[in-house]
Amino acid sequence: MLQFEGVTFGYPTDELNMMENLSFSVNKGAFVAVIGPSGCGKSTLFRLINGLEVADAGTITIEGEDVAKKKNFSAFMPQKDLLFPWRTIGKNVALPMELTKAPKDLQEKRVAEVLEQVGLSGYVDKFPNELSGGMKQRAAFARTLLSGAEMLLLDEPFSALDYLTRVEMQEWLLQQYSHFHKTILFITHDVEEAIFLAKDIYIITDERPFAQMEKIPVPLSYPRKREDLKHPDIVELKESLIGKLRKQVVL
Ligand SMILES: Nc1ncnc2c1ncn2[C@@H]1O[C@H](COP(=O)(O)OP(=O)(O)OP(=O)(O)O)[C@@H](O)[C@H]1O
Ligand SMILES: [Mg+2]
Repeated sequence: MLQFEGVTFGYPTDELNMMENLSFSVNKGAFVAVIGPSGCGKSTLFRLINGLEVADAGTITIEGEDVAKKKNFSAFMPQKDLLFPWRTIGKNVALPMELTKAPKDLQEKRVAEVLEQVGLSGYVDKFPNELSGGMKQRAAFARTLLSGAEMLLLDEPFSALDYLTRVEMQEWLLQQYSHFHKTILFITHDVEEAIFLAKDIYIITDERPFAQMEKIPVPLSYPRKREDLKHPDIVELKESLIGKLRKQVVL
């Protein structure tokens, strides 16, 4: 579904390119976690996929077409929930439909449906500051869903949450994944989170510029339980991933 072919990119202000001749692909329906050290270019990958940045060389295609022509194919959810504080939850979630000028009654109907799906019915007229961190993230996720995008780009969506809320949100996201069958790319710093959620982990270990991401399949099927993380193979996988990341930090 998503294909990078020989992609080179660097910000004009940076001395070194971020990535050089990078190729990888993501299949439809995949759940990919991207891990790598801070500043290595994970968020930049997302900016390239949703067309906020343009590759200096190489091609990025979605279903064989250049990303520039596929603007609404992916929806980006940043680390901070980015709800507008002056808009109610309902009005925040309706935003993608407002932008496409969908009829008001259809907007209201879809907003009510999606808020129910994320466990927030009854919050349509509340303001973001009346919700907990996890609820705000779910509202932001609901808005991402209403964009109608096939591919969700989630950039450390849970990193600002406390541990228990984060664990609940991970379980919740897996339910959403099995329900909506979207393709998910998920950036995280947390190796355990990557293992618990993803089918495949793409890890960036090269020094800048990076030319590849190693693809590591997670040997677990869905649905998953937290106990799965205690399986010896999984513990070993976790240690090996931490080892790969640490090697990068020490260098
Ligand atoms: N809009 C921008 N303009 C110029 N340079 C940028 C921009 N965004 C990021 N960079 C550069 O890219 C690097 C960080 O890239 P990016 O945000 O993709 O990293 P990351 O892997 O997501 O890091 P983190 O894990 O800390 O979020 C920084 O070194 C910064 O110099
Ligand atoms: Mg980032």
